[in-house]
Amino acid sequence: MSVEERDPLTEHQTTGHEWNGITELNTRVPRAVWFFIIVTHIWALVYWVMMPAWPLVNTYTEGLLGVDQQDQVETRITAANAERGDWADRIATLALDDIRADPQLMAHVDRTAPALFGDNCAACHGTLAQGGPGYPSLVDAAWLWGGDDEAVLETLRVGINSPHPDSRYAQMMAFGRDGMLERDQIRAVVDYVQTLSRPAQDMSPERLGVGATLFADNCSSCHGDDAAGIQDLGAPDLTDAHWIYGGDDAAMFKTIYDGRQGWMPAWEDRMTEAERRMLTIYLGTLRQEGQNGN
Ligand code: HEC
Ligand code: HEC
Repeated sequence: MSVEERDPLTEHQTTGHEWNGITELNTRVPRAVWFFIIVTHIWALVYWVMMPAWPLVNTYTEGLLGVDQQDQVETRITAANAERGDWADRIATLALDDIRADPQLMAHVDRTAPALFGDNCAACHGTLAQGGPGYPSLVDAAWLWGGDDEAVLETLRVGINSPHPDSRYAQMMAFGRDGMLERDQIRAVVDYVQTLSRPAQDMSPERLGVGATLFADNCSSCHGDDAAGIQDLGAPDLTDAHWIYGGDDAAMFKTIYDGRQGWMPAWEDRMTEAERRMLTIYLGTLRQEGQNGN
């Protein structure tokens, strides 16, 4: 186009194209765009020269700076492990109350323990450790083996009825199946045991007397004269409202007829000391939250 045409209104040069009297202005690419294009191209060139960029047949252009992301990842992993080793060591060795008093360590516990519990314990004890039929709640006040730090740590280490050499043993005998008590005797002792947690039941004093005698003869050695349980034997309190297998007639009859041997895995070989300690602290936190009604 040799002839320069200008739009009379804007004074802009036109492209010379015209559609039905409308001419197209020959607007320039704005400077900002040119600037952007030039800068990004220069940036790309510099980057190609300085950084690893172009794949070649067996290798790649390494760049003048010699940056290698694999090295960076390795350095960071080493640093993270060192840091983890540091706090994990402290959790494994400090007294639990000292850990509780240390906000930094507790931040690690709060981050790690819920996942540990979810992966290893929740399948049996429930997502919030509330328990279920056959699996005790870990957040109520009723304990088979004791709920203080030492007792819980030991239960976690050795398990219950587990193959661990130091395992805790919980043996509720099969009084019916093994012929130690008649069915009717079991019914009488069930009736008696139920009055301990639910006193308001009308039952003949004779029958209660029979049940009480049977209990004293057969059960009190493990559950205690007052039926409040003996933690050294893992024998539960039968006077509270907490039941592992159920406090109704049928469940209790089955417990006494067939016996019960709950099985809890030992975690000594599957978890580090630090992990078992974090779980113990976590269970305490859950228990407290439960008591505060959250
Ligand atoms: C295979 C199922 C199972 C898994 C998994 C399991 N438990 Fe248990 N746990 C039990 C049973 C069953 C008992 C009760 C044993 C009994 O009745 O004597 C128990 C008992 C306990 C006790 C003792 C409670 C008391 O009253 O003294 C604690 C503490 C405990 N578990 C914590 C844990 C933690 C923490 C984990 C995860 C690391 C875990 N359990 C994983 C089945 C399991
Ligand atoms: C050798 C000790 C021992 C004797 C004797 C014994 N128990 Fe037990 N009992 C246990 C243990 C241990 C458990 C917990 C079992 C478990 O959870 O694995 C238990 C559990 C129970 C439970 C289940 C509680 C729940 O929370 O569901 C009832 C009920 C019970 N016993 C009643 C009796 C009665 C009644 C007798 C007498 C006829 C008796 N026991 C005799 C050790 C004993």
